[in-house]
Amino acid sequence: MFRKLEVADRFDPKRELVVYEGDCLELLEQIPNGVLQLVVTSPPYNIGKEYEKRLDLNHYVEQQARVIAECVRALAPRGSICWQVGNYVDKGAIYPLDSLLYPVFRSLGLKMRNRIIWHFEHGLHCSNRFSGRYETIIWFTKSDRYTFNLDPVRVPQKYPGKKHFKGPRKGQYSSNPLGKNPGDIWVIPNVKSNHVEKTVHPCQFPVELIERLVLAMTNPGDWVFDPFLGVGTSVIAAIRHGRRGAGAEINRKYVDIALERIRQEVNGTLRTRPMDRPVYDPKAAGNSLTVSPWKKDTTDNVVQLRLVEQEPRRYRVK
Ligand SMILES: C[S@@+](CC[C@H](N)C(=O)[O-])C[C@H]1O[C@@H](n2cnc3c(N)ncnc32)[C@H](O)[C@@H]1O
Repeated sequence: MFRKLEVADRFDPKRELVVYEGDCLELLEQIPNGVLQLVVTSPPYNIGKEYEKRLDLNHYVEQQARVIAECVRALAPRGSICWQVGNYVDKGAIYPLDSLLYPVFRSLGLKMRNRIIWHFEHGLHCSNRFSGRYETIIWFTKSDRYTFNLDPVRVPQKYPGKKHFKGPRKGQYSSNPLGKNPGDIWVIPNVKSNHVEKTVHPCQFPVELIERLVLAMTNPGDWVFDPFLGVGTSVIAAIRHGRRGAGAEINRKYVDIALERIRQEVNGTLRTRPMDRPVYDPKAAGNSLTVSPWKKDTTDNVVQLRLVEQEPRRYRVK
């Protein structure tokens, strides 16, 4: 569908790709009512990353509410909004942003369809609470008649060989040959230093995360929009599946990277982690670092403890 690189710098419904350098509200002003099929984004979390200024939390929520209201105005009647967020953190206390933003979406008449847990293994190591290893994607629709294509995002069954054991279909395979519903807990590696997609952006989406949303919630030719585009991941996922992509990014450095990645995607040279690749299991891969240097001690201790539990008299435990 997109064989030539033609990225517009303003919204034009006749174009296929739009990257706007500037504030997302300025780009949203250019978008007519009801044209966006999927709005998918990860906004700043107000935690002082290099691309944001920390605001009072109420002020932050009001700012988000203005962007969300504009996205809802521009959303198609069968469209979806997926807002991907983590926690705001202040003096060690966490404030889950999905809880704070949920009332904003409800006040605009949207209905929540899923609160998807995106689980990953890597991140900061906390010492005063458990380390955060998930964020959420809150998915809302504008109406009850919304686009949802399950088949393109089915995943392999755990037991594809299982058969009905009674009833009229006894002996026939019981699972869907296309795979199963991926559920609402998604285990997808986040983009850290050894990820093939890593750029200088500190918080980019993995492309595969957005591909699943694009495939499920849009059809070819639909508009996918990201108000906080970063290095262009949402537009890349859109192009890959023959959708139109638009987004705004306020930081020139990230706009340049987004344009380069989009160029590579159009040329077929952008390296990404494939959607269907299982998560790397270092033990199964025989990685030598998975062997604990303390293993012998631990094993000996475990054996000793078991003996003591099984034969307390013999080992004189009182
Ligand atoms: C969490 S990052 C999004 C990263 C993106 N998901 C990706 O894959 O690269 C949020 C981005 O929003 C940008 N940003 C912040 N305020 C903005 C605004 N008012 N309009 C447009 N972009 C903004 C930041 O520069 C940052 O790159």
